Amino acid sequence: MAATLTPPASSAPATPAASALPELLRKLRSREARVGVIGLGYVGLPLAVEFARAGFRVTGFEVDAEKVASIERGDSYIADVPAEELREQRAKERLSATTDWSRLAEMDTISICVPTPLRKTKDPDLSFILRASERVQATLRRGQLVVLESTTYPGTTEEVVLPMLLEGGLKAGQDFFLAFSPERVDPGNPDFQTRNIPKIVGGVTADCGRAAEALYHASVDRVMVVSNAQTAEMAKLLENTFRNVNIGLVNELALLCRELKVNVWEVIEAASTKPFGFMPFHPGPGLGGHCIPVDPVYLSWKARVEGFEPRLIEVAQQINSRMPEHVVARIAAALNDAGKPLRRARVHVLGIAYKRDVNDMRESPALDVMHHLLRQQAEVRYTDPYVPHLREMGLEFDSQPLESLREADCAVIVTDHSCFDYRQIVRQARLVVDTRNALRGIRSAKIYGL
Ligand SMILES: NC(=O)c1ccc[n+]([C@@H]2O[C@H](COP(=O)([O-])OP(=O)(O)OC[C@H]3O[C@@H](n4cnc5c(N)ncnc54)[C@H](O)[C@@H]3O)[C@@H](O)[C@H]2O)c1
Repeated sequence: MAATLTPPASSAPATPAASALPELLRKLRSREARVGVIGLGYVGLPLAVEFARAGFRVTGFEVDAEKVASIERGDSYIADVPAEELREQRAKERLSATTDWSRLAEMDTISICVPTPLRKTKDPDLSFILRASERVQATLRRGQLVVLESTTYPGTTEEVVLPMLLEGGLKAGQDFFLAFSPERVDPGNPDFQTRNIPKIVGGVTADCGRAAEALYHASVDRVMVVSNAQTAEMAKLLENTFRNVNIGLVNELALLCRELKVNVWEVIEAASTKPFGFMPFHPGPGLGGHCIPVDPVYLSWKARVEGFEPRLIEVAQQINSRMPEHVVARIAAALNDAGKPLRRARVHVLGIAYKRDVNDMRESPALDVMHHLLRQQAEVRYTDPYVPHLREMGLEFDSQPLESLREADCAVIVTDHSCFDYRQIVRQARLVVDTRNALRGIRSAKIYGL
């Protein structure tokens, strides 16, 4: 029998399937691409507005129907997003919000901006990412770009999200694109907002990185592409762990300075005159917000999974988490000097949001301070114009008029909102513990530092 020279049809090299990238890039350049954002909170809403400003038609996907209704009315619930801006983008039909997940199929890009909290056990809680990824998985189609923006441990995009998206049989980097791009927004910062904070992107393949670069290049001033998703995830955790560790250092120095009878604020101001190699961090009542207290825990969790002991990160966490107790000790010391026990003393907390001039209570150290005070049977009140009602961690309080601090035995400045009249506070209070150096420049024997 004559030998056949042509290989059987089944073993012929398959023509490589065309990549969906060029068409996606074309749509992004022409702004034809439909842009989706999952989770319209502090991160997602400003991002959605920025995409709309860049000329895209943006759809926000949110589980909270009230937020959806608010956006549909043109009302903003995020201080950094002016209602006029929201209304302008809605008038141009560039911004809408929905709870209808089937519409994810219409999107060319999907940015996931859902929460990444900790479980009670202090382990990462990826349930929000998992739920959002399931929604994306259900309607994933060729040509879509998915970008995870939620802060998480290195490996999440490739180890958790990618396998879910691959289940439908589409190929990453060819049929669909997946990247990580950390969100670095600083709510309430007037100088840096979504547009002018450089965006890091890392794709699970080089083309995934290219697709994500094209999306963000259209809407933020600078995009930096890194080798892979894991590098982008790690960069975000480095930034926030850097803050956490340096705050831990300066909190420890504050405790030491108290022993040495040195003013830590003056020390920091003096050290800050060095024009290189020093960056000031400030001590305070403890860490707050969704990021700085939480993100390093994601990193140390992953480190331990890999059998690596992250010592410095954990020590900083311990120091920072004990600051609320130190604040209560300072209140007790001030009262003691006035011959009063903490028990039954009326303590007035000034500012309970986690940082100045915002209404965000997440992880606020004021909650810990109030809990410690209540545990020691102090009577607690608070004033915070940004937080009229407090219903958290078993605490139920309403903000009191500032004048009522006259009735208090001791006031404590936990959050130094710029709307407080600090001279009036010193005039009206019997004693003031100032954890933020808000009373710098005011001299009075009533004032106790951190
Ligand atoms: N807030 C910040 O300053 C900040 C800064 C940088 C990074 N981050 C990170 O960004 C992520 C989001 O944080 P945030 O502050 O915007 O949180 P947020 O709680 O303000 O907003 C998250 C939104 O997602 C919605 N949501 C939850 N599950 C959902 C789901 N399955 N589908 C659709 N929507 C869902 C929630 O209702 C909420 O509106 C977190 O990983 C956080 O660590 C936050």
